Amino acid sequence: MYGMVHTAARSMVVETMGEAAWQNILAQADLDGEYFISGQNYSDEVTFALIDAVTKASGIETAALLKNFGRYWIGYTAKSPYGTMFRVGGDRLDTFLMNLNRMHASVHSTMPASRMPSFELLRNEDGRMDVLYTSDRTGLFAFVEGLLSGLMDYFGVTGHITHALTEEGDVFSLHCNGNNTHLRGVA
Ligand code: HEM
Repeated sequence: MYGMVHTAARSMVVETMGEAAWQNILAQADLDGEYFISGQNYSDEVTFALIDAVTKASGIETAALLKNFGRYWIGYTAKSPYGTMFRVGGDRLDTFLMNLNRMHASVHSTMPASRMPSFELLRNEDGRMDVLYTSDRTGLFAFVEGLLSGLMDYFGVTGHITHALTEEGDVFSLHCNGNNTHLRGVA
């Protein structure tokens, strides 16, 4: 994956565990002294070795860690130079989810070696949104759950998420309190 993902991981680790912990994690993942470049592509082996090393160093199990990272990613990208793209997604959770593939497509045009996932809003009723996630990668299910939970927070939507594996792929159901037209920042 692109270095941006690894620099976000670095930022989360340094904020929560400190710089020395990050250097130890790099060493554990056989990446001593590596300084990730946002716009450079790295093999997925690097990404998964990092996840493994952070899991061991933090003592947090992989699923919980990926979920935390998903939530962290929302704040990180919204504040990154890609923040403008993020805001183009709209100020409502449902429209944002509908625009997600377009947003990733814009990012892809600046990061041509990326393999972006796909999201489809299958159902959009008051109190419930079903989102189909597909990717050619496996093992990122908890990351997606964290991302969706981070998005709910970002848009001020409270509720919970459930998951079902269907023939089409992973479907996440967002059970939201109130209606789906809740606007960001509007109580
Ligand atoms: C401006 C905001 C965003 C930017 C700049 C961004 C960028 C990226 C980049 C660079 C990758 C790595 C792909 C690769 O190198 O192959 C990625 C992966 C991913 N992104 Fe985004 N992203 C953003 C927002 C989101 C949001 C809001 C979601 C929410 C659901 C999301 C879901 C994912 C997932 C699940 C992956 C993992 C790849 C996979 O599943 O195969 N992204 N994104």
